Amino acid sequence: MKIPDAITTKTQAVISADRMIQGAHLYDWLRRQVTRTNGKKMFTEAPLPPVEDLDLLDIDVSNPFLYRQGLWESYFARLRKEAPVHYQASSPFGPFWSVTRHADIIAVDKNHEVFSAEPIIVIGAPPRFMDIAMFIAMDPPKHDRQRQAVQGVVAPKNLREMEGLIRERTREVLDSLPVDEPFDWVKTVSIDLTSRMLATLLDFPLEQRHKLVQWSDLGASMEQANGGPSDNDEVFRGMLDAARSLSAHWRDKAARGAGDDTPGFDLISMLQANEDTRDLINRPMEFLGNLLLLIIGGNDTTRNSMSGGVLALNRFPDQFDKLKANPDLIPNMVSEIIRWQTPLAYMRRIAKKDTILNGQFIRKGDKLVMWYASGNRDETVFDRADELIIDRSNARNHVSFGFGVHRCMGNRLAELQLRILWEELLPRFENIEVVGEPEYVQSNFVRGISKLMVRLTPKP
Ligand code: HEM
Repeated sequence: MKIPDAITTKTQAVISADRMIQGAHLYDWLRRQVTRTNGKKMFTEAPLPPVEDLDLLDIDVSNPFLYRQGLWESYFARLRKEAPVHYQASSPFGPFWSVTRHADIIAVDKNHEVFSAEPIIVIGAPPRFMDIAMFIAMDPPKHDRQRQAVQGVVAPKNLREMEGLIRERTREVLDSLPVDEPFDWVKTVSIDLTSRMLATLLDFPLEQRHKLVQWSDLGASMEQANGGPSDNDEVFRGMLDAARSLSAHWRDKAARGAGDDTPGFDLISMLQANEDTRDLINRPMEFLGNLLLLIIGGNDTTRNSMSGGVLALNRFPDQFDKLKANPDLIPNMVSEIIRWQTPLAYMRRIAKKDTILNGQFIRKGDKLVMWYASGNRDETVFDRADELIIDRSNARNHVSFGFGVHRCMGNRLAELQLRILWEELLPRFENIEVVGEPEYVQSNFVRGISKLMVRLTPKP
């Protein structure tokens, strides 16, 4: 049952975020005790069969281990060909439709009148009693008002101001890297750079930036999103810590900024200066939701594009040579890396009315998953779609940022960070060699790389 907004807001004003998270934690704990004993199935890791061995009806692309086992491309290729709008009736996430072709994904994403982003954008059910309100999971007009309040932080003018700082921080990180010895690129470069950027966006203390990474990683690891066993107790403890630290940060900034006529360009200052959102702290779950959206949205995605780019250029070394010979290809390559990696595999929607999609009858209330990871491999749009081709003429036609009212708010910022990274890497290093097999995140949502050992060769 959906609780009306007015009631939720009133309740939130009375019950603090602390209490609400603690209550939701208790409920979740009890739920897990019950479901463990009634044998509810979740995914567990086991070798998965080649897609040709399966009946169409048995294909379940929500299995997070498809990604870790490198089978996802073949599974989606079969769906695009034989059942582009495909029904899976008995997944652990409940029944859902998979939308796998480029054109159908765009059609669904642009049609918010028929396909709702509420109440959550991952396949699983939202955690009960934790009504975290994020505008990525709201429909217009509420969505539009909330997005409006924060989007100035990534407006072109602000990005121009940030460019110098991003470059400076990128140089600092790259100049301290070990050369001629293996190290983990994910931890040392991708995580460090994106967390510095997030701290800047939120004006959060730089020396505490590891907390932003920790909260973001926990948010993305909930079993509702990843389908496998996860430590939900740790997730709730992390949410509590996030609620307390972010509220303290808000209050601290409000106290420091009181009486200041020229607010800063960070997100918190903007929210405090905006009439609609200056009292956001009194709506704790909305406050937490919107801040976590920025933290999670801007973290994993850019991080995995930084790691994915290095991995892709090692898988396709001729493209690395092409890049070294022509660094002007960097902006196009950035789009191609974001296509190839597809940092977020999907977004989910619920049909608001009966409708027909590519010949399939979709009933009001049905769950649909727009698989961006598949749309970016659509062979009718992208030639040799599985390959990274840095001068691909239509690389920008990827669907990784979505379309319509929810199109990624941080897309220009992400591209800027990636462009600067490669502009600073090329003059410093002759080679970035991947040594050893990468390790992947267990998730069907975040297409993540958790470890990528590399060795750098300096320029002669
Ligand atoms: C929304 C991907 C970077 C903030 C989205 C959506 C996707 C996405 C797929 C949903 C689109 C839809 O439903 O149609 C990515 C990718 C990134 C990235 C692939 C990096 C390569 C960032 C960054 C930020 C950010 C750096 C931080 C400023 C957001 C926000 C939304 C969003 C706030 C919600 C927009 C709305 O609902 O109106 N992103 N994102 N993203 N992203 Fe990103």
